[in-house]
Amino acid sequence: MRRVLFAANWKMHLGPEEARAYLKTFRARYNRRDDRDVWFFAPAVSLEAAAQAIRERGDLLVGAQDIYWEPKGAFTGAISAPLALQAGAKATLVGHSERRQLFGETDDDTRRKVAAALASGLAPLLCVGDTLAEREAGHTTAVVTRQLAGGLSGLDGGALARVVIAYEPVWAIGTGRNATPQDAAAVHREVRAWLGARGAPAPRVLYGGSVNVKNAAELLAERELDGVLVGGASLDPDAWSQLVQTGAA
Ligand code: PGA
Repeated sequence: MRRVLFAANWKMHLGPEEARAYLKTFRARYNRRDDRDVWFFAPAVSLEAAAQAIRERGDLLVGAQDIYWEPKGAFTGAISAPLALQAGAKATLVGHSERRQLFGETDDDTRRKVAAALASGLAPLLCVGDTLAEREAGHTTAVVTRQLAGGLSGLDGGALARVVIAYEPVWAIGTGRNATPQDAAAVHREVRAWLGARGAPAPRVLYGGSVNVKNAAELLAERELDGVLVGGASLDPDAWSQLVQTGAA
């Protein structure tokens, strides 16, 4: 059975109290379904509250939005994979385009973060994506492949099989423009081929960028999409509970 992954990226929204209230509403609106998983990437300060709020729901999972690669030490402001784990996270985003563009994160940083996540037992969700200029210059494949190689080099097939990939064209994030299902699928096939050639033939590949309750069905009808990573449209628990039921019988 196809198991679709709906991942919410709350970005810099929803503190602990708000996260608790959100998840209470969400739990009331959405009952477990075996054909989908729902993940919440919460701000670091809300991880524990969010993890507590979903502890009786095995179909729901909380993740961090970023980690630093060192396990502990004098790194003011950063959180490590073991700290995120202690707060209840089971996954982490790595290399979100906002981290790359606003915080100067490099491909090599993403490699260290993916490795740190895997070493501690957090599932890494590596984000890759092209800018509009890169797409228009025909460089989408080169950029995505460089980000995959940069973030995942040195991992064997077993480790790669634990990594989830999100293709998020930068020009589609928070802009109201999204890739067509066909455009997304073409990149997803390349991601799959890249991982397949390195011993991970069945990766989970999500699409992200201005996904909402109106366009999710059309996107998810494309079988190359194993799920979606959603920012803005995940911030309201009613709207998000509707979105995660996309395609439900
Ligand atoms: P968006 O964000 O859904 O608001 O476009 C997606 C993301 O950045 O993960």
